[in-house]
Amino acid sequence: MSQTSLAQRIAERSARVAIIGQGYVGLPLAVEFARVGFTVAGIDTDLDKVTALNLGRSCTPDLTDEDLKALIRDGRYEATTEFAVLERSDVVIICVPTPLRKSKDPDISYVVSAATEVAARFHPGQLVVLESTTYPETTEELLLPMLQAKGGKIGEDFFLAFSPERIDPGNPTFRVGDIPKVVGGVTPACTELAAALYRSIVPRVREVSSPKVAELAKLYENVFRNVNIALANEFALMCRRLGVSAKEVIDAAATKPFGFMPFYPGPGIGGHCIPVDPLYLSWKLRLNGYEPRFIALADEINRSMPDRVVEMTIEALNHRRKALNGAHVLMLGMAYKRGVGHTRESPAIELFKMLRDKGAEVSYADPHVPSIGIDGVLAKAVELTDERLAASDCVLIVTDHPEFDYHRAVEIAPLIVDTRNATWGISAPKDRLVRL
Ligand SMILES: NC(=O)c1ccc[n+]([C@@H]2O[C@H](COP(=O)([O-])OP(=O)(O)OC[C@H]3O[C@@H](n4cnc5c(N)ncnc54)[C@H](O)[C@@H]3O)[C@@H](O)[C@H]2O)c1
Repeated sequence: MSQTSLAQRIAERSARVAIIGQGYVGLPLAVEFARVGFTVAGIDTDLDKVTALNLGRSCTPDLTDEDLKALIRDGRYEATTEFAVLERSDVVIICVPTPLRKSKDPDISYVVSAATEVAARFHPGQLVVLESTTYPETTEELLLPMLQAKGGKIGEDFFLAFSPERIDPGNPTFRVGDIPKVVGGVTPACTELAAALYRSIVPRVREVSSPKVAELAKLYENVFRNVNIALANEFALMCRRLGVSAKEVIDAAATKPFGFMPFYPGPGIGGHCIPVDPLYLSWKLRLNGYEPRFIALADEINRSMPDRVVEMTIEALNHRRKALNGAHVLMLGMAYKRGVGHTRESPAIELFKMLRDKGAEVSYADPHVPSIGIDGVLAKAVELTDERLAASDCVLIVTDHPEFDYHRAVEIAPLIVDTRNATWGISAPKDRLVRL
């Protein structure tokens, strides 16, 4: 298929779309393409997930079961574990995980595995887009040679681009269809086709000159966030020493209508983007003989936050003549951020382990995380009852879920350590309520 005929099929929504990886990124994207009229196949290696999806069970907070069922009923969406569907696909989008290895180096194995499947079934005229966050030059150094090996000329016989996903799972204000896309193709024809595809589902597409620019744009967004969170975290530690609330200072600074964007401190960073993506960039730069300093410093500060929170907890208990060893600590929140059940890289896990290792009796409440395996042991969430609040020696607020009744917690718990300023505006004696 030529560029013109693929462009026409995209414009008419008759192009068949396959999306590899049906997680937080791939599923909402598949659904968005299906909603505007494309026929979409969602490929995933997880058979349980595929079965659940085909029964209309969504696995992301951004999609209701009813919406998924309607698309399946209309024949617009189907999940599958069969890569054979790629043989009939005009567009293939790769949304597989890009985690870190234990050594903190990029683990690109999922992308390689997905790309191998694409290359094995590759046919002329296909548009392939990588969306997984990755180090600069992945598209051109890794994917392009794999597809080129099958014959065909890039920009004429087949098309390849990178377009980073920016979804914020569980954010009701900005969903896939509300967030502009950045698109960088290997050739101008690749960019043009990929941009035309995304224009069918998003309000704005920013075309850039290469996949490398698009890859770096995503990394810069997340480095920016990581560094600013680290700054807020360190600022909070400084404010504690000076006896003022970092939140009050940051809120005051945020009244400046230009040149300032507020970031707030917390117990550490989680999710699989902010703590992970900057290290993809450092890794690549290290190969180029450059050691990025901001990224390393931000990583060090953010990763030290659970230690700082444990110190705060010990200090707060000490004021009340209690030791952490033997204390009943009730943690509020296991998810890495409010309103979701996502626990990957959650600082709550580390806090749970550290407190337990120091002899505390730790339990947790989280309406979104009913249970979690920590070091091979299953921990089950407890109900947040008045009795539990009263029986604890310390309530540690780790995730500011909207479901928690913070007024009640402050009223009943003998001691609260609040790492999220979730109790902001609620007054209590200083030795009963400690905020980061
Ligand atoms: N979740 C976010 O907030 C977010 C935001 C922007 C970008 N990203 C990036 O998007 C990418 C995907 O993230 P996610 O959150 O959707 O991950 P996820 O773990 O939620 O989903 C990935 C899915 O891919 C499947 N998978 C793994 N290997 C596969 C393969 N070879 N073939 C087919 N399916 C395979 C897994 O079974 C899983 O269902 C990552 O690079 C991530 O950094 C994530």
